[in-house]
This record gives sequence, structure tokens and C-alpha cells, in this order.
Amino acid sequence: MVIPYKHEPFTDFSTKENQEAYQEGLALVESYLGQDYDLVIGGERISTEDKIVSINPANKEEVIGRVSKASQELAEKAMQIADETFKTWRKVKPEVRADILFRAAAIIRRRKHEFSALLTKEAGKPWNEADADTAETIDFLEYYARQMLKIKDGMPVESRPGEYNRFNYIPLGVGIVISPWNFPFAIMAGTTVAAIVTGNTVLLKPASTTPIVAAKFVEVMEEAGLPKGVLNFVPGSGAEVGDYLVDHPRTRFISFTGSRDVGVRIYERASKVNEGQIWLKRVIAEMGGKDTIVVDKEGDLELAARSIVASAFGFSGQKCSACSRAVVLEDVYDQVLDRVVELTNELTIGNPVDRSNYMGPVIDQSAYNKIMEYIEIGKQEGKLVAGGEGDDSKGYFIKPTVFADLTPDARLMKEEIFGPVVAFTKAKDFDHAIEIANDTDYGLTGAVITNNRDHIEKAREDFHVGNLYFNRGCTGAIVGYQPFGGFNMSGTDSKAGGPDYLLLHMQAKTTSETL
Ligand code: NAD
Ligand code: ALA
Repeated sequence: MVIPYKHEPFTDFSTKENQEAYQEGLALVESYLGQDYDLVIGGERISTEDKIVSINPANKEEVIGRVSKASQELAEKAMQIADETFKTWRKVKPEVRADILFRAAAIIRRRKHEFSALLTKEAGKPWNEADADTAETIDFLEYYARQMLKIKDGMPVESRPGEYNRFNYIPLGVGIVISPWNFPFAIMAGTTVAAIVTGNTVLLKPASTTPIVAAKFVEVMEEAGLPKGVLNFVPGSGAEVGDYLVDHPRTRFISFTGSRDVGVRIYERASKVNEGQIWLKRVIAEMGGKDTIVVDKEGDLELAARSIVASAFGFSGQKCSACSRAVVLEDVYDQVLDRVVELTNELTIGNPVDRSNYMGPVIDQSAYNKIMEYIEIGKQEGKLVAGGEGDDSKGYFIKPTVFADLTPDARLMKEEIFGPVVAFTKAKDFDHAIEIANDTDYGLTGAVITNNRDHIEKAREDFHVGNLYFNRGCTGAIVGYQPFGGFNMSGTDSKAGGPDYLLLHMQAKTTSETL
């Protein structure tokens, strides 16, 4: 009997005991910085000359590790092994597959602070953000294992007298999992194990800025008992290995999380039927967002300001769910803006190994440059009221930045910045606020701060986002509680951590036996 799913609690870092545990995690990670990690293909470790070097974004001098880089030849080898292994893995009982996930969750739970500390070093995550990423990883393992047990016998269908009909879900084949750096543990692991527990084999291509945590996760899955060849680790260049695998005729599905541009490219390429291909590829794509918090005049304005600040600047705004637009009713606009500026100016920024820093760095030089360019655009389009400065001398630090008085069609209101920048605009009434919030190509998350029941119901119907929250911020979905994923250009409408997510990795088979 499997105990019911409950999400992994976050660590209370106000206790000395937990602070010490995290420091021990950091010390352990520091003891293995700079090591080399191999590709893993069919269980075989393969080292290449060409390496991806992972560095600490808070301290460019510090090398987290070097990971071997797959060439197209090695990607081909991995594909052949995954294809061959699928023949046996698809027949392994769902209960056995689920058990491997339960075991992996237990291993990660035991090493929780080590993994979180690695995220602090490799992705620049402050302690609480890193802890949440690790907790979400455990949640995905625990939740998807249980979901597999729920769907393993298929769904009931009717049978007429003299026949026995069954409706079961079977796996698809080889999946290419391509993951982003911003939830380098949870999204990478969650998308991988969803594919594996459903009986598919996987080629995992992690983000090039955060490959070490992915290499460590592959080790965990091996320790948990995953047979060789089910999970193949092929870090590499998106353009070289990514395109090759997306185009491959034996690729059955692609599970991608990342930017809109890359997601659209994958979607388009995957739609082409290449020579030797006998199926239409399935694409699960989770892409960007331009997420909004709407503040009603009948709302708790202190809650509104705190929700905007936390959602805009948690992990330096580098969440697809981050609040990058605040749409505030004109009656309360000045009050909310002033309070947001006040709270923003109180935030501390610096190396996230120090727990007192609320915000760490952004991920790399190109993210730093892009965000600073948007800050310059913001200065033309609106009024800079907080932050606006950056310093990339040691790491990639950008102050939390607030722009006021944007028009709804400003670039800052339309384009995903993916950094600590939030833009404010005024709405004349609640309907107008929802209209502005919906005026985007994306549709990932949103929040409404209001005590007006009619406005809650109006937003529930008309605010077109995959994850809509009332009287709280727009980040921090919990697996199994708030299934996560967006509409329109935010993706293919799937919901990670939701009850129907695993089915995206399977196909239904009807069998009908005449008795
Ligand atoms: P990205 O698109 O730059 O990279 C994502 C992955 O795609 C990386 O592993 C990268 O190497 C790979 N890639 C790049 N080019 C490729 C190609 N031609 N073929 C195949 N793979 C290729 O995104 P990122 O910067 O890592 O992540 C940030 C983006 O991800 C933001 O837009 C954010 O909103 C989005 N995101 C969305 C969700 C969601 O659930 N909707 C969650 C997290 C992040
Ligand atoms: N699941 C993450 C959040 O909700 C992206 O913030």
C-alpha cells in the first residue's frame, strides 16, 4: 500500500540546525568542484575532448565542473541504444518502474541539502529557492510514481455480451528531453522521470549552463536501480545535438522546456516527416511567459505589494512564472507602486552562499546583457523608479528594477525579459485590467489581488492563463496541487505535475476479445 502523496515541506532556515545542515551541503559541494563528468550511453561512461564548462554565476572564476559534450556520432549511438532498450523497458511492470522513482526520491531526500547547495553554486539560487527546487524534484518523483500506479490498468470501457474490451495506455518509444537552466533540477528530473515511468527510454540533453546537477541526477537514477540504456545522458550544443535528435526518424516524442524561440523551432522541425520515420512525432513544449499581477482597488494593497515583489524578484525574476507586469487600478496605483519601490529598495543582493542575500546573480553574460538592454529600453518607455544598475565584474548581478507608467503596448509589457525587472501600468477599471493582462502572446501565470467576489469570478472566466492565483503571488506552483503549464505561446497546454500529464507520454490501445 502506497501512502498518499503529500508535497515535500520546505526547510525552515531560521533554525540553527537547518542552517548548519545547509552549510555542510555547501562544504560537500565545494569538495568536489571542478571535476569532470562523462556522457552516459547505455550505462557506459564516455569522455570527450570537447567539454561544457559550468561556472558559478556569482563568481565567474569558480568552475563547478566540466561535462563531456556529445557529438552527433555519440548522439546517434545513444539513440540506437535507447531504441534497443525500449524493447525491454516497455515490458517492465509499471510497479517496478514506479519503485525506481520512489527510491530515487528517498536518495535525494537524504542528500537534500547537498543538491540544494549545488543549485546555489551552479545556478546562483538563494537557499530558499534552491530548497524549493530540490523539494519539487522529490515531488515529481513521488507524484509521477503514484500516477503511474493509478493509470497502469487503463480506463474502463463497455463490453457487449460475448466480448471483452480493454483500453490501456502503452508507452511511445524514445523521448528526447531538453531542459532549461532555471529549474535545473526539478524540471530536468520531472520531465525525465515522467517519460521513464511511463515505459519510454530517454536521451537527456540538459541546459549547458547547469549540466552538473543533471549529471548527479543520472547517478541517482542508476543508484535507484534504473537499468542501463533507459536514461542516456547527452549534454551538447542545442544547435548541433538538439537539432540532430529532434530531426531523428527514431525520435518518437520531444519533451522540451525553454524559450519560445527554441520551442517553436523544435515544434516546426518535429512536424517534418523524415526518411525512415513511421510516426508523427509528439511535442510537449513548455515555453516562456509574460506574467501579470492585477491589483484591484478593492484588494489588500500590502498583500499586493508583497506579492509583486516576491513574484518579480524571487530567483532574480528568472522564472517562467515570474511577475513582469503589474496592472493596477488607477485609484490605488500610486499607493501600490510606492510600497513596491520601498520593499524593493530593502532587498539585499549578493553571492547566494550567504543566506542574508535575498537575490543572487542572473545566469550568465548573455542573460546579463539582454536584461541590461531591456533596462535601457525601459528608460525610454517608462519611468525608472527602483534599481536599474548592474555589475558583472565578479558575477552577473542586476539590482531589482521597477519601471512605472508604461503603456500597455510598450516592449517591456510585451516581451519576456527573464530577469529582475517589473513594469507597472494603470488600468481604469477591472475589465480594463483583465484586457491589458490578456494582451500578450503568452498565457502562463497570473494573479489577481481583490476582495470582490464578482471580480474573482470574472477573472476565473476571462483571464486566459494556465495558472491563475487569487490573493497571492504568481509563482510557486506545487506538484500535484497546482499543476503547471500555460496557454498560447507559453506551450502546448500541458500541465506538469498534474493528473493527466503522464498520458502525454503514452498512447491508448484498445483490445477487443470475442469470448
Ligand atoms: P532555451 O530555450 O535557451 O534552452 C532550453 C534548452 O533548449 C537548453 O537545454 C538548450 O540547450 C536547448 N536548445 C537550444 N537550442 C536548441 C535546438 N536548436 N534544438 C534543441 N534544443 C535546443 O531556454 P533557457 O534559457 O534554458 O530557459 C529559459 C526559458 O525557459 C524562458 O523562456 C522560460 O520562460 C522558459 N521556461 C518555461 C517553463 C514552463 O514550464 N513553461 C519553465 C521553465 C522555463
Ligand atoms: N513551477 C514554477 C513556479 O510555479 C515555475 O514558479
